[in-house]
Amino acid sequence: MKTDFYKVSGNKAADHSAIVRAAEIIQNGGLVGMPTETVYGLAASALNTDAAEKIYAAKGRPSDNPLIVHIADPREAEAVAFVPPVYYRLAERFMPGPLTVIMPKRSCIPDSVTGGLDSVAVRCPAHPIARALICAAGVPLAAPSANRSGAPSPTTAEHVRRDMDGLIDMILDGGPSEIGLESTVIKLTDDGCVILRPGAVTEMMLASVLGSVSIAKAVTNPEMVGDKPLSPGMKYKHYAPNAEVILVDASPSAFSEYVKEHISENEAVAVADDAKASFAHCHVLSTGKSTSAKDESRELFALLRKADDLGYRRIYIKLPPATGEYLALYNRLIRAAGGKIIYISR
Ligand code: TXA
Ligand code: MG
Repeated sequence: MKTDFYKVSGNKAADHSAIVRAAEIIQNGGLVGMPTETVYGLAASALNTDAAEKIYAAKGRPSDNPLIVHIADPREAEAVAFVPPVYYRLAERFMPGPLTVIMPKRSCIPDSVTGGLDSVAVRCPAHPIARALICAAGVPLAAPSANRSGAPSPTTAEHVRRDMDGLIDMILDGGPSEIGLESTVIKLTDDGCVILRPGAVTEMMLASVLGSVSIAKAVTNPEMVGDKPLSPGMKYKHYAPNAEVILVDASPSAFSEYVKEHISENEAVAVADDAKASFAHCHVLSTGKSTSAKDESRELFALLRKADDLGYRRIYIKLPPATGEYLALYNRLIRAAGGKIIYISR
């Protein structure tokens, strides 16, 4: 299969015709790589069983791991799920945006989309191209991250091309993803709200609307990486580059000492530009301009892919706190490291 690649350039007529073409592909049961504000998605009609199966095949993903259904307006959730009133309080604050809500599913959503579960994950993305594509296709879009299963999620169209060229019909290039980590996934139950996957909508932000929120244990517990999960996606080793990720829990100075003592020729350390000076004789992979949750989150997946391109055998990364804006990054890093952390006493 030839994969069409289209760079959305701001030329209204040309961009419009690319989106119309992408929508036709979706309506005919095909697959389109689309930009979102979190990571790139691999989109197909969420109402079409065969199309959902094509997604699993292109990703090489186990078909018990359910897909997120993307809508253009928060109210469209009613068409695919049984929506509790509290959803609208969340929608008002966080939608469109990086929040996915799991609710009981309606029968129009095929089992192949939800991996046989009786619930469906719904998200209204903020990215204008994703929204335009959902509207033009006229159906909700099932879209997992557009990486081969197990690889880091794609944050540029080039990442999608590397993983999916020849396997899907079209890729829309909307520039690098702004957030860089996948959406926050929550489940609403009679007992309240539980975070199954942390993202840019944080525990505190959710609690400011809902009062209290709990976090699934596997989100923060390195020993549970690989255990039987609440969310099927949690059980797979994720985001893992070929290079071994060495996660070190230490103060900044203890981290640089540890790295300088252990690093060898074909290994690299991941730090922000503003902390590079402490690693003078090391190969450095940049986590962004500043040591901040936003920069480090946005750059993580590109950095893991770059480490492989450059052939590094190991990457040293300082473990961030498992709190606040850093929780999502912490969660992805413990998965990338297969749950292994090196603790340096402070
Ligand atoms: O930011 C995102 O959410 C991106 C963009 C493309 O929107 N999508 C994404 O999809 O990350 P994916 O398929 O890579 O991750 C979906 C996660 C998986 O961990 C899956 O197990 C979980 O959501 N999930 C989906 N439906 C579920 C359900 N009904 N119950 C529990 N977990 C569910
Ligand atoms: Mg994924």
